[in-house]
Amino acid sequence: MIIGERVRLRAVEREDLPRFVAWLNDPEVRRNLLLYQPLSLAQEEEWFKGILERDIDEQPLVIEIKNSKTWLPVGDIGLFDLNLHDRSAEVGILVGEKKFWGKGYGTEAMHLMLKHGFEDLNLNRIYLRVYETNPRGIRSYEKAGFVLEGRMRQARFQEGKYIDMLLMSVLRAEWNEKKKGKGEKWV
Ligand SMILES: CC(C)(COP(=O)(O)OP(=O)(O)OC[C@H]1O[C@@H](n2cnc3c(N)ncnc32)[C@H](O)[C@@H]1OP(=O)(O)O)[C@@H](O)C(=O)NCCC(=O)NCCS
Repeated sequence: MIIGERVRLRAVEREDLPRFVAWLNDPEVRRNLLLYQPLSLAQEEEWFKGILERDIDEQPLVIEIKNSKTWLPVGDIGLFDLNLHDRSAEVGILVGEKKFWGKGYGTEAMHLMLKHGFEDLNLNRIYLRVYETNPRGIRSYEKAGFVLEGRMRQARFQEGKYIDMLLMSVLRAEWNEKKKGKGEKWV
């Protein structure tokens, strides 16, 4: 378990799969992801089998938020394509419960994942891809410390037109610099 102030990250359990399917089938959520087709529980179960085969560092984690006295699952986050030579990895995130968008949970979950990546896994660069049509995501990643490093032009065909995919990253040195400025408040 990776524990923050309002958010914690825990391993995925089989019981999570129906809620994952519900999130991934919501068009408003899915339009920001690589997925573009409806997904069944059976397909998600195959995905789950696959993640159990992955290296432990590449297994996604459930994002839970503190909700009065209990923890509520609202999304998932994970590192993948870890490159141990270059010490880099890509990160993906999803807050599937829409009523919790825009409340800072995604940024806090990303912060916890960056901390884990830099301070437990000894990574040097963590990057992500985000569509130009996802201003909430872009803003959240900027708040977590990501900087824009490139634009893949017309990399995605969506809703009848081509859109750009942005590449953003955080380097270990930038993380350390940000941490210095935060002092005691750093989770
Ligand atoms: C992207 C996502 C992870 C962000 O998590 P979140 O908890 O909603 O984000 P946060 O509340 O931490 O931050 C969102 C920021 O974007 C801002 N924002 C929201 N809508 C915006 C818009 N239309 N234009 C500009 N900024 C916007 C919010 O005001 C907030 O910034 P602020 O704190 O400076 O006010 C989450 O919304 C999500 O999973 N969405 C659906 C799937 C998705 O997009 N996954 C990521 C694919 S790359």
